[in-house]
Amino acid sequence: MDHLVLMIPGPTNLSDDVLKALCQPMVGHTSQEFYNDFKDAHALITKLFGSSDDRTILFSGSGTFGMEALFASFAEPGDRMLSIVNGYFGDRFAEIGKIYGLNVKTIEFEPGQDVDVDALKRELSRNSYSFVTLTHIDTSTGTINDLKSVGEIVKQNNAFFIVDMVSSLGCTDFKFDEGLVDYAFSASQKCIGAPPGAVMVALSEELLEKRKSVKSRSYYFDLKRWLPVMKDPSIYLSTPNIATIRALRVALNEVFEEGLENKIRRHEELGKMAYEFVTQMGWKPLSKRPSPSVIAFDLGKPVADKVQRRLYQQGILVAKGLGSMSSRVIRVGYMGWTTKELLYNTLKKIGEAYNSIL
Ligand SMILES: Cc1ncc(COP(=O)(O)O)c(C=O)c1O
Repeated sequence: MDHLVLMIPGPTNLSDDVLKALCQPMVGHTSQEFYNDFKDAHALITKLFGSSDDRTILFSGSGTFGMEALFASFAEPGDRMLSIVNGYFGDRFAEIGKIYGLNVKTIEFEPGQDVDVDALKRELSRNSYSFVTLTHIDTSTGTINDLKSVGEIVKQNNAFFIVDMVSSLGCTDFKFDEGLVDYAFSASQKCIGAPPGAVMVALSEELLEKRKSVKSRSYYFDLKRWLPVMKDPSIYLSTPNIATIRALRVALNEVFEEGLENKIRRHEELGKMAYEFVTQMGWKPLSKRPSPSVIAFDLGKPVADKVQRRLYQQGILVAKGLGSMSSRVIRVGYMGWTTKELLYNTLKKIGEAYNSIL
């Protein structure tokens, strides 16, 4: 490869065909050409979510847009929300909720630790909430949360279950229509292997029902405005990121050509391989279990900066930790089309860099 290899937890390396799709001559945003590309991308996103066409929304933006659109479209000041926090991105939910005037409480677990479902049960039996939020895979620690067991408790307590799937959609087994989740969102630049710039949301019928009595506080982020555009992309609402959507369509076709089950298995194997490598090196993964898209690990010494720089000099970009331990933590992403060879080569080079620095 004659360019920097991205082994960060998104954005990911793009396949040649996805790159080519990015470089096509521009078309009109309400043209027939774009209509067809958008329709295809939307149908494939719906398939990826395991959801229904009329409740999946694809629009331009980043993962955070998906988070913010929840509050702008479905929440009212004073609504009670419980944010489950065991990493950096759970906190972001709480922060945005507060900006929109919700009554936000957090239930916190150590970064990288599993959600204590008994503690969650106790909290939900004591207080009632409109929304409970969970980050499926927290990219800061590489922790995959148990969506099913958390979701069952949330549903038993009649709250809307909101899930951040930015780092998990496309590399985990998930079916929106099983009915546990009311609002799931993700972004193009992670497991799907497309460039940044597109955000996707799946909504439950119950949440759409709630919308009838909610006064939206945004124009762009009001998802109800976007629903008619999904049916007819020639309707103008706001100019979409045409190049990204077209590249996303190609990336999604590649996902289904590989086969979703095969892709999920590949990511699980990559996660296990990374976990074994890291523990054999004597480093400490921040999560107790392998995750299928990212590993974060403590090198034990404040050399993350130097390790990152050494790899960069060799044409590979890895990420440092987020938050207080950033000087000791390296994060490696294996999203998109990452192969075992590429991941192994990256981990080996991290090992060599680490040994040469000490
Ligand atoms: C789990 C998770 N949620 C939300 C976000 C925010 O997404 P974006 O940076 O695309 O706005 C990220 C970004 O890395 C993420 O990893």
